[in-house]
Amino acid sequence: MTGMVMIVTGASSGIGFEVAKYLAEGGNDVVMACRDPEKGQDAVRCIKSILPNSLVTFMQLDLASTTSIREFVRDFLRKKKKLSVLVNNAAVALNFSDLTRKTTSEGFELTMVTNYLGPFLLTNLLLDCMIQTSNVLGEGRIINVTCAAHNQEGGWGRGRVDFLHTKNFQLQDEGTYNGLQAYKNSKVCGLLFTYYLGELLQGTRVKINAIDPGTVPTTELLRHAGKLQQVYSLFCVDRVLRPCLSSSKKVHEAAMQIAELATSDKFEGRSGKFFRDGLAERSSIESYDSDLQKAVWRISCQLVNYRSNLVNDTLDDISLSSLK
Ligand SMILES: NC(=O)c1ccc[n+]([C@@H]2O[C@H](COP(=O)([O-])OP(=O)(O)OC[C@H]3O[C@@H](n4cnc5c(N)ncnc54)[C@H](OP(=O)(O)O)[C@@H]3O)[C@@H](O)[C@H]2O)c1
Repeated sequence: MTGMVMIVTGASSGIGFEVAKYLAEGGNDVVMACRDPEKGQDAVRCIKSILPNSLVTFMQLDLASTTSIREFVRDFLRKKKKLSVLVNNAAVALNFSDLTRKTTSEGFELTMVTNYLGPFLLTNLLLDCMIQTSNVLGEGRIINVTCAAHNQEGGWGRGRVDFLHTKNFQLQDEGTYNGLQAYKNSKVCGLLFTYYLGELLQGTRVKINAIDPGTVPTTELLRHAGKLQQVYSLFCVDRVLRPCLSSSKKVHEAAMQIAELATSDKFEGRSGKFFRDGLAERSSIESYDSDLQKAVWRISCQLVNYRSNLVNDTLDDISLSSLK
């Protein structure tokens, strides 16, 4: 794919920045959707200094705020651009050992809204535009960046995290919150969403997949982590263990995988899959639970006040107050 309009969230740093650069290099019109205007504009300047003719622009987007998401979509749609690719890359990882739950001014748990509920709303609000574009320009692609930590049976969280409980969706029950559980829950939701929306989009030319970019210790993801974890990650994982750990990657390697999934003909027609190192793999058992997929979709619609025309559903039986 080249010459297409693409949005990359969290493009101000780390993997997202590199993804935006690769997509711009491929001749695409890349919207770098970033929370911090200064960092976002710097990122655009940086890409332009390397690729002076590239079509990269900055748009402000705070995924932790449904107001910001709705404003972003309104401003984007006003431009009448034909959107082909959406890379839901942005995420936050709070200190994994922290037991103090952080909420936004809208009452959302910070990790869940940034990593999942925000991208859920953004994707849904952009879907009509993507479907219309795909009817004219060919396949559209949505990519949800997930993480091995989505799996309570493997990865970082093995034995330390629990399944997602829909009745405690935002870890609001006393004593249930910790940073790692919140991150894991948000990332498994990204997969549940990928699989369910993949089914709903059958019959359209918009495809949706998830990807684990691997372990990339040099990004800013662990900025909220404890010092010990940062040092372990940077010095042990990146410098010492990297040659022996197949999952450990440099930023450009991780970004290249995402950019390929977004653009390469190799992935044409693939949808509802979880990719790692360019291959479709199985994600956690939990992520394939179709009842959970539906339940999470319904809870999400309720929480972000969104009614999908893809699902004929009634949301009346979920009490909003029990979800926050
Ligand atoms: N690094 C790894 O080892 C690893 C492993 C597996 C998966 N991943 C996934 O890869 C993706 C990229 O992470 P990274 O490692 O590149 O981390 P990063 O350097 O911290 O990048 C995260 C990006 O998300 C943005 N972001 C955070 N909160 C936001 C919000 N409320 N609204 C909009 N943007 C927001 C950040 O913007 P600010 O700079 O303004 O905060 C930043 O640009 C994430 O989905 C992460 O879960 C990373």
